[in-house]
Parts: sequence; C-alpha cells; structure tokens
Amino acid sequence: MSLLETHALTAHYGDFQALFGVDIHLDQGETVAIIGANGAGKSTLMRSISGVLTNGSDQVRFDGQPIGDLPADEIMARGVAMVPEGRRLFPSLSVEENLLIGTYGRKVSGHWSLQTIYDLFPILKQRRHHPGTALSGGQQQMVAIGRALMSNPRVLLCDEISLGLAPVVIKDIYDAVPRIQEAGASLIVVEQDIGQAMKVADRVYCMMEGRVTLEGTSDTLSREAIHDAYFGGAAA
Ligand SMILES: Nc1ncnc2c1ncn2[C@@H]1O[C@H](COP(=O)(O)OP(=O)(O)OP(=O)(O)O)[C@@H](O)[C@H]1O
Ligand SMILES: [Mg+2]
Repeated sequence: MSLLETHALTAHYGDFQALFGVDIHLDQGETVAIIGANGAGKSTLMRSISGVLTNGSDQVRFDGQPIGDLPADEIMARGVAMVPEGRRLFPSLSVEENLLIGTYGRKVSGHWSLQTIYDLFPILKQRRHHPGTALSGGQQQMVAIGRALMSNPRVLLCDEISLGLAPVVIKDIYDAVPRIQEAGASLIVVEQDIGQAMKVADRVYCMMEGRVTLEGTSDTLSREAIHDAYFGGAAA
C-alpha cells in the first residue's frame, strides 16, 4: 500500500475539466516529481490532493484512508502539507509569524520547529523580524517551505519551488530536500525544469492536458520519451 494514492482523479473548474483520470502514487520515503508544460494540470493535482479542490472521496487515499472529499484543514491536520505555487506569504507578518502560522491546525511534535527551520535556512533566522515583503524571492520561498514543515508533515507537496529563482538560490533550496526526507517526510515536487526534477526525484510523472502521459524512475526515462510526453508525440 502506498502512503498516498490518487485513483481515476478528475477535477473541474466550473464546466472546465482540468484532470481526466489521474493515477499517481507516492510511497513512504520517496520523492516523486511531476513535470509538464504550462496548463498541464500539475497545480490542479496538488490542489486536489491538499483539499483546496475537493473530489470524490476515494479519488485520493492517504495512509489507507479516503481523503478526496475532506477540506484542506482536515487534510493538513492528517499530515499532508503544501508549499503553494507563488509562495503566498502574509506580507504584513514577519518571517517568524509566517512560520508560526504553519503550526495552526496540526499539533504534533516532530523534528521541525522554529529552531530546526532556522538551522535548515540560516538566513531566515537573521531576517526573522522582517516582514515577508522585505525578503528576496528565494528567501520568501524558504519561508513558504518552512511554514509547511512547521506542521511536521508526512507528505510535503511543493509546487514549483524554483520558479523565477537564480540557479544558486535554486541549489540552496533543493539542498534542503535530503534533510526534509531524513526528518521523515515523503515529497511530491512539481517542477518545470526537467533536469532538476530528474536530479531530486526517485520517480517522475509527466502530465499533459490533464492526463499522466509518462511515468518512470529518473534513471530509466530517456530524454526522447520525456520530450514526447511533455509536448505530445506529434509535436516532437
Ligand atoms: N482557477 C481556475 N479556474 C479555471 N481554470 C483554471 C483555474 N486554474 C487552472 N485552470 C485551468 O486548468 C488547467 C490546468 O491548470 P494548472 O494550473 O493545474 O496547470 P499547471 O500544470 O500547474 O500549469 P503551470 O505550469 O502554468 O503552473 C489549465 O487549462 C488552466 O487554465
Ligand atoms: Mg501550476
């Protein structure tokens, strides 16, 4: 049994259908990457798992339980945390206040606390009294990751955590992944940079137009297969 699974997952925005029968799974200790072009449905998949969008009960299972129809706060309380696309910090709150928000709704002890987040991203300790708006993009991303970790999640969903950041900052952020895994979380990372996805993930799913078009381990997928799954065979 996988830690987290989707079964024939569908998602809609009003009349528009964004996901068409998506089946993915995440095993304990794994890091899985979701790749795909703009509009492929990657964020919709993350929103469906985290309860921002609700689905059929059995379309998402976590730890053997159906969670597809649960609200976001209940899913977070069970141990699935999301770093949303675009960071979404509270601009008027300080770094430390933004981090503390991550503890609301899930009171479990675990590895992650203010102190261990500051060990992971030391720059945040220096900036802890600054408002979110005074931070660089990379620092804001660190706060968004730290906020999600503060709930000591069993599954961490990361939606495009490298978007718009300089390569040196992306490296700082991805360097945190092994330490997040060691602390006991399994990860799903949405990543448009295929090279980065292959580097960080054990397995990769490629999505196109609301469907999974390719799945495999990072060391077995060919560039050609990924290109076809990403852009469609006809366009390759
Ligand atoms: N709030 C919304 N209302 C209506 N349609 C939406 C909404 N959010 C996304 N969509 C549509 O759903 C489809 C999937 O979007 P989604 O944001 O999941 O893609 P994505 O793979 O995350 O893309 P990106 O790489 O640009 O973040 C797209 O066609 C998009 O236009
Ligand atoms: Mg997206």
